[in-house]
Amino acid sequence: MARSSTADRAALETRRVERVYSVLARVYDTGFDWALGPGRRRAVERLPAGPGDRVLEVGVGTGLSLPHYPEGSRVTGIDISEPMLDQARERADLLGLDLVDLRLMDARSLAFPEASFDHVVAPYVISVVPEPEKVLAEIRRVCKPGGTVVVVNHFHGDSHLRRAFERLFSPATQWIGFRLDLPVEVVTATPGLTVLDDERVNLLGLWRLLVMRREG
Ligand SMILES: C[S@@+](CC[C@H](N)C(=O)[O-])C[C@H]1O[C@@H](n2cnc3c(N)ncnc32)[C@H](O)[C@@H]1O
Repeated sequence: MARSSTADRAALETRRVERVYSVLARVYDTGFDWALGPGRRRAVERLPAGPGDRVLEVGVGTGLSLPHYPEGSRVTGIDISEPMLDQARERADLLGLDLVDLRLMDARSLAFPEASFDHVVAPYVISVVPEPEKVLAEIRRVCKPGGTVVVVNHFHGDSHLRRAFERLFSPATQWIGFRLDLPVEVVTATPGLTVLDDERVNLLGLWRLLVMRREG
């Protein structure tokens, strides 16, 4: 039998992730609203979005960030899981957010032309997707030159002890949708994105919020 290619494996992994989040959709907020809330709120705060700016949120999930955008923001949220998006649509309706556009889409291949958005935010999604480098290249492509990209995520720790712990538990956490041992360089080494700031957020500062500029 022929060996499956990297692309086939990534497609299979993407389908698995989609199924995991489709199952989690109804209970997601119970576990992940408060725990990841400060970083999510801060990510939106760090976007220098003015009225009318177009913002893309990658992996919008159940839309927990939506209430934090300033009034008048034009937010497009994409996600690979329809049940997660259904929750986000319900939230947007409840909050009366008319300018929010929610679409089913794979972050590895965004269906938007180059420079479609003034800013892009990616909360807690980079360690979930297979081929995170592809997602970052897409984020760079759809963000206009000079725009801001904010990524908030858990990355592989600095100390030996933390790294050993994360390496040990990462295979298990991958079954519930994310990995613990993603090197931060996957984000910071993206060509065309320059890191402007690196903040620690959430419990014990175990997550990092990277503010980057999309170079021209
Ligand atoms: C940990 S959740 C984060 C959700 C939300 N950003 C938040 O702050 O709660 C990860 C989200 O990424 C989505 N996701 C996973 N792989 C994706 C992909 N390839 N393209 C788009 N979204 C994806 C999942 O469906 C899920 O909604």
